[in-house]
Amino acid sequence: MTATIIDGKAFSAKVRADVKTKVDKLKQLHGITPGLAVIIVGHDPASEIYVRNKVKQTAEAGMNSYHHEMSADISEEALLAKVDELNKDPAVHGILVQLPLPSQINEASVINAIAPEKDVDGFHVINSGLLATGGDAMVPCTPLGCVMMLKDTIGNMSGKRAVVVGRSNIVGKPVAQLLLDENCTVTIAHSRTVDLADEVRRADIVVAAVGRAEMVKGDWIKPGAVVIDVGINRLDAPERGEGKTRLVGDVDFAGASMNASAITPVPGGVGPMTIACLLANTVTAACRQHGIKLDS
Ligand code: GUN
Repeated sequence: MTATIIDGKAFSAKVRADVKTKVDKLKQLHGITPGLAVIIVGHDPASEIYVRNKVKQTAEAGMNSYHHEMSADISEEALLAKVDELNKDPAVHGILVQLPLPSQINEASVINAIAPEKDVDGFHVINSGLLATGGDAMVPCTPLGCVMMLKDTIGNMSGKRAVVVGRSNIVGKPVAQLLLDENCTVTIAHSRTVDLADEVRRADIVVAAVGRAEMVKGDWIKPGAVVIDVGINRLDAPERGEGKTRLVGDVDFAGASMNASAITPVPGGVGPMTIACLLANTVTAACRQHGIKLDS
């Protein structure tokens, strides 16, 4: 079997088009322009690229984008004061504090200072609690993107065996929760799992989010399984020339493609879905804050 490639770029374009339609409706029917505020602290190069993309795509979707650059030596108190100011600003419907933060700042304190209804990352303990108990949570963007792609590929996932490799608060745990909500039988595997290959071999759905290059081997994939690769790992690629690198996921893509029925590539799979879901969450947040229900 050769797997179908799940095109995250094309899918994310559809999600962003849907977001734009909703933004247009909010503007025309309700006079509301959703606003997303992004705070970046310091000059981490990877964070700067992410944030630039977020700001660009927010504007392309017709939303207001508020970009706050803070110096790397900012105190926690000053950062909390900025969050508080944005919490109170009615033009701001979503707040995202780009992670990681410098070591003088407690990340959890900052995340939990964001008003839960403006927490478009879905990282606030209130939102993880709501997700765990079936409430109206803001759902973390990458897990949301993963499950959207799975639903689009598989349809009804009820009764499927899903293995999530990785137990982070940002991806592993929330994706497992969302799969449970889809009535999958979910296993969360991690660094202490005794026989990872055996767990993966039994899965109809594999979500890999461990952050280790090509750790999930191709021959672990059950024939016909659907594989979602969240990993983005940069490897040296001397074959491409001196100093060149290439991106790979947490799954051995070539090997897994021989067994899976469908698989996300890296890059071009989960990555583009994350920002699209952030934009979707900002619209959801704006609607909830104004008590508006949009049908499509
Ligand atoms: N840093 C890397 N990914 C993310 C993300 O999804 N949200 C935030 N806030 N920071 C990140």
